Amino acid sequence: MFKRIPGTKDILPQEALSWQAAEAIARKIFSVYNYQEIRTPVIEEAALFNRTLGQSTEIVQKQMFLIHNQEDTYALRPEGTAAIVRSYLENNLEKVNGFSKLYYIGPMFRLERPQKGRLRQFHHIGAEAIGSGEASVDIEVIRLAEQLLRSFGISGYKIKLNSLGCPKDKQALSAGLKKIFQGKLNQLCADCRVRAENNVLRILDCKNPECRKVVQESAAGAGCLCADCQAHFETVKSGLDNLGISFQVDPQLVRGLDYYNRTVFEITHSDLGSQDAIGAGGRYNNLVSELGGPELGAIGFAFGVERLMLVPNTLAPSETKKLVYLITLGEAAKSAGLKILDRLRSAGIPADTDHLNRSLKAAMRSANDAGAAFVLILGDDELKKNVIAVKDMVNSTQKETTIENLIKELK
Ligand code: HAM
Repeated sequence: MFKRIPGTKDILPQEALSWQAAEAIARKIFSVYNYQEIRTPVIEEAALFNRTLGQSTEIVQKQMFLIHNQEDTYALRPEGTAAIVRSYLENNLEKVNGFSKLYYIGPMFRLERPQKGRLRQFHHIGAEAIGSGEASVDIEVIRLAEQLLRSFGISGYKIKLNSLGCPKDKQALSAGLKKIFQGKLNQLCADCRVRAENNVLRILDCKNPECRKVVQESAAGAGCLCADCQAHFETVKSGLDNLGISFQVDPQLVRGLDYYNRTVFEITHSDLGSQDAIGAGGRYNNLVSELGGPELGAIGFAFGVERLMLVPNTLAPSETKKLVYLITLGEAAKSAGLKILDRLRSAGIPADTDHLNRSLKAAMRSANDAGAAFVLILGDDELKKNVIAVKDMVNSTQKETTIENLIKELK
């Protein structure tokens, strides 16, 4: 028998109800904040991600699912942001709409070592606001992320916030970090020794306990912002305070993708263990121009849906559907039953029947298992009298009604 491949997950019907609830809530909240849905392909040119996420990032180095064909190399998208900026430019949204507020829900793919909360196919619920560098958008986007969590019934999360500054500030930060870590190379893991050369910011992200210790002791990360970036950061922080959003400034928060600058944030939950981020995001002011567009500010975030499902939430909805279950006895009733079933469904009444020719007793059990609110019993006798028996499963009462009246009564 075939098995699903490691790092993928089957979302079975009961769990899918929670996913449907999360998606429906997200769509509603996005609409309240005036974000519109965008759906981009799951495959893109691999070069799009190489260019934007950063050559030395984990994703580009070793986590892309690549598809080689004769002329090109495609990648299963490891994240949504780069693809959405590609689409924004290709479809001239900057000319049509100027500032665009977009959201997306869909699968992402990373060739990671699978563990709890870390999959090779996972799902994002995310948003991107492209076309403004104003701090008011940073505030709106973080508020939106928080509103989503609250609406999912999730509490106990922490919002960590930092500013990486502009590209010049990031360079200054990198130069400072290089100095700090040069003298401590022998205390770092093998990966971080390479990072010290080609992407020193990533050292702040390393989960290795020895590296964490070095990072914490060195107080690396703080104080490299120019006056403009500092002012932007102050506006974001006071805007969040104004809206009553709690956050912690974490000067060592750098994020794992190269396109970020200025505001970055991560939302963590202690119930998640080592993979503790339920969502994350930040500004990427140079990505639009990097991909050939004008100089435009942009910011966004994404939640990992599987991780939202791992923390306590109120996304398991009680089934409110009132299912009607038809049991027929005898050949003539069976054929008439199909027509009745069809009329119920056409009238929008959720209805099902026993497709396994079970005995009355077994079919009743199956109706019960399906959570039926009403069971209809149609035998040849009823058919002759043009009536049908309606059993109310909640009150355990039963009555007969004419087939003509059935829909009216069930409604
Ligand atoms: P990211 O931090 O790579 O950011 O992913 C966002 C979230 O996706 C993470 O916080 C985590 O919850 C979830 N996630 C990431 N990798 C996995 C995995 N292997 N298995 C399960 N869940 C995972 C981005 O992707 C950015 N595009 C976010 C963004 C949008 N920044 C600006 N706009």
